[in-house]
Amino acid sequence: MTSRAAHWDRIFSTSEDETLGWYENYPEQTLELLQSVPKESKNRVFLSGAGTSTLVQNLLDDGHELVINDISQQALDKTASNIKASQDQVCWLNQDIGLPIDGSFEKVDLWLDRAVLHFLTQREQIEQYVLNVRQCLKPDGYLMLAEFAENGAEKCAGLPVHRYSLNLMQQYFGQDFELIKTFNYDYVAPHGGTRPYIYALFQYRP
Ligand SMILES: C[S@@+](CC[C@H](N)C(=O)[O-])C[C@H]1O[C@@H](n2cnc3c(N)ncnc32)[C@H](O)[C@@H]1O
Repeated sequence: MTSRAAHWDRIFSTSEDETLGWYENYPEQTLELLQSVPKESKNRVFLSGAGTSTLVQNLLDDGHELVINDISQQALDKTASNIKASQDQVCWLNQDIGLPIDGSFEKVDLWLDRAVLHFLTQREQIEQYVLNVRQCLKPDGYLMLAEFAENGAEKCAGLPVHRYSLNLMQQYFGQDFELIKTFNYDYVAPHGGTRPYIYALFQYRP
C-alpha cells in the first residue's frame, strides 16, 4: 500500500462521514450541474475518488451504473456497506487516479470528480489523469469537475492541493473538452470553514 493510500485509509477509518471537511448531506451543486447532461448520456458514470459521498446513492437511485474508484480501500468498504445497489450496477476500482488505470471496464458516459483532482500536485500526475479521462470516456461523453478555486484553501485533509480556475482546467484538458457550464460555489464545511470551489461541466468532442 502506498503512503498516500494509507493516509486516506486512516482518515476514513477514524472519522465519522458527517464530520469530514467535504461532507455533503445532499450533493446539490453536482446534481444541479448534471441537469445539463442529457438523460440518455449519463447511464454509466465513473467516480474518480468516490470517498463515502452521498452522491453514490443518488446516482444509483437515478438508475445509473457506476464505476466507483478510490485510492482508499477503507472508503470503498464503507461505501459498499452503505449503499443499496444491484450487483451488476457497480464496478469497484482501488486505483491511484494519477497513475495509468486498468481500463478493462466498458467506457463511461460521464466522469465525475468532486475534490479529487486537486490532490494531484505534480504535472505528470495531472497529465496522466487527463489521459485516463480520455481513455475511459466515450466520445460525446461528459466530464464534471468540482475543485478548490484559486481563492480556495491551500490544504485539505492535511495535504497540499492544486487550485483551479476555469482557464487552468481548459489548459490541462485542451480543446477537445467543450465547456457546457461553470459556476463558483462557497462550500461550508461541517466545522464551519468556507471552501471556495469551481464547478465545470465539459463535453468530450475528440
Ligand atoms: C476530499 S475527498 C472527496 C470525496 C468525494 N468525491 C466527495 O465529494 O465526497 C477526496 C477523495 O479522493 C480520494 N483520493 C485522493 N487522492 C486520490 C488518488 N490519487 N486517486 C484516487 N482517489 C484519490 C480520497 O481517498 C477521498 O475519498
